Amino acid sequence: MYNFSVNSKLHEVASFQEFLEEFQISDRDLLFLNKFTYQDFLANLPLPCQLLFYEDYSTSEPSDEVVTHILQDLQGREIDRIIGVGGGSVLDTAKLLCIKDAQSYDDIYEERVPLVRDKGLILIPTTCGTGCEMTCVSVIDRPKLQAKIGKRIECNFADHAVLIPDLLMKIPHKVFACSAIDALIHAMEIFVNPLSGNFNKPFCREAIRLNIKNFQKMACEGMDAKFQVMDQFLLASSYAGIALSNDICGAVHACAMHFGGQHHVPHGESNYRFLVPVFSTYAELRPDGPELNELASIIRQELRVETDLQGTFQALDDLLDQILPRKRLREYGVREEDLPRYVERVYETQQRLLVANYVKMDQDQFLEIYKKAY
Ligand SMILES: [Fe+2]
Repeated sequence: MYNFSVNSKLHEVASFQEFLEEFQISDRDLLFLNKFTYQDFLANLPLPCQLLFYEDYSTSEPSDEVVTHILQDLQGREIDRIIGVGGGSVLDTAKLLCIKDAQSYDDIYEERVPLVRDKGLILIPTTCGTGCEMTCVSVIDRPKLQAKIGKRIECNFADHAVLIPDLLMKIPHKVFACSAIDALIHAMEIFVNPLSGNFNKPFCREAIRLNIKNFQKMACEGMDAKFQVMDQFLLASSYAGIALSNDICGAVHACAMHFGGQHHVPHGESNYRFLVPVFSTYAELRPDGPELNELASIIRQELRVETDLQGTFQALDDLLDQILPRKRLREYGVREEDLPRYVERVYETQQRLLVANYVKMDQDQFLEIYKKAY
């Protein structure tokens, strides 16, 4: 049986001011966010709630230690709702702050406490890629394992996911590009995931279409054109997030999770390194699959090109290179002789994702993907 659900109430809101009024924010709410979000958008608003800044705990993606530190600081505080406003790091951490009686990340990861929430959860994205306002997964860096590990916690779907495109109007270009490409990858991986069902397909199709159409607009009109269509990028991210809340990604994310953890490379950037190497390998291994061919036809339609399967992924690569120049694994300090070890670690730590590959691949085939990305 295949199940599909949209688990949060979804809201499109014109401004943060409107959000404060509609949701009757009070001093029993905790707003968890980045300092720059506060300074750029909220500093002049009357905020009748408690504030907690991500940067007081971490300047990179969240680790198990960071989550534990915040959980301990929140002990004894009277909080009815956690409101996470941010990118993936903030939102994934915000979810974990709602678990009843958790005093450390290991309490949650190892399920030493029942995984139930005793606080409300509202998630507001300030990037257009992770879609994690729609999911119940938190991806946390586990330095001892040298990998980022995602954990699905069923109670951690937000009560409300709130889209406010205004909050993305100062997004740095690289953050935008990496996150929008991440959303595209969510939709592409889930679209060809053999375990995914039909209900997800329209969300993936529309996310792919919107992202490629608007990347194309930016390639023609300049990078600032993204601000004219930020609402569409945000919507595409959320559509892909809905898909992601029902199904998992595959090999691109599996490679990126390990690579990102090992080299401390942000999630979207790591994913981008593996996107075309994985899909061009899929095209070599099983060129006749209907999902892969439908995906290619959506891409060709939006790019207005006529070419074969491999040519399609090459054309996509060329478009993405205009949005954010490609970078090879070697430029991050990866040594060619170590590539087999990377593959082994992906197999050891990312089995959760590898089951969702479009085709089953052995370690030699994965090594070819790494060589393409190298
Ligand atoms: Fe992702």
